[in-house]
Amino acid sequence: MAGKYEKTEQIYEGKAKKLYTIREYKNLLLQEFKDDATAFNAQKKGTILNKGIINCELTNYIFTYLNKKGVKTHLVKQISPTEMVIKRLKIIPIEVVTRNIAAGSLLKKTNLKEGQELSKPIVEFYYKDDSLGDPLINDSHALAMKLASEKEIETLKKAARKINKILKPFFLKRGLKLVDFKLEFGKDKNGKIILGDEITPDTCRLWDAETNEKLDKDRFRFELGNVNEAYAEVRKRITGN
Ligand code: TMP
Ligand code: ASP
Repeated sequence: MAGKYEKTEQIYEGKAKKLYTIREYKNLLLQEFKDDATAFNAQKKGTILNKGIINCELTNYIFTYLNKKGVKTHLVKQISPTEMVIKRLKIIPIEVVTRNIAAGSLLKKTNLKEGQELSKPIVEFYYKDDSLGDPLINDSHALAMKLASEKEIETLKKAARKINKILKPFFLKRGLKLVDFKLEFGKDKNGKIILGDEITPDTCRLWDAETNEKLDKDRFRFELGNVNEAYAEVRKRITGN
């Protein structure tokens, strides 16, 4: 009955995913995607139809593509519509946000207008801490809190820029502008920094390349309507399903 990867204990439940240990494989975990959606540090809660399936499928597709392009990720393999086996990482509590076009919280920090192309991508760090509301931090803050070493900070920035260079044309070929996105990294058993978490419409801003229609979680955050349809559209354009 139990397959090769038998899930044992749930060790974590986040806003959009759960993590389980796997019997026999100490260095692997099972990552399960949920339909639950939250925004504004979970002040707004809801569900998005089939989000678990769509986000699992998209993360599997995009991480496999990144792997082929030489980016190491935690993905081992997808084993069900909402579950993937991943390498166990010690997550670095920094959300690495990369921006190509002004949108979202950048509009509150700068005089840039929504939709303005940035001459050079902006890479930002946010301290992953719900009680503090995931504040924007700089390198010195990250060092002071010992979240990462100076060398690791450079590795994170370099990786974010490299992934952006790969994903911008990837999405554009599929009729989507990669406005901005959030990445999380962790250390594997050898201490190597690799990409973890997910890449989905929950963690990216994706706009239709022709009309700039928002096709991502902003539809849920700001009650723009057609949330399920936007996720389904991104799925169709990327995986064809
Ligand atoms: P922001 O403009 O709200 O700072 O968001 C930047 C990007 O990060 C956007 O693509 C959405 C993503 N993001 C997350 O994945 N998780 C979060 O908690 C937040 C606030 C943003
Ligand atoms: N997922 C985040 C939360 O609920 C925020 C967001 O994605 O907007 O806190």
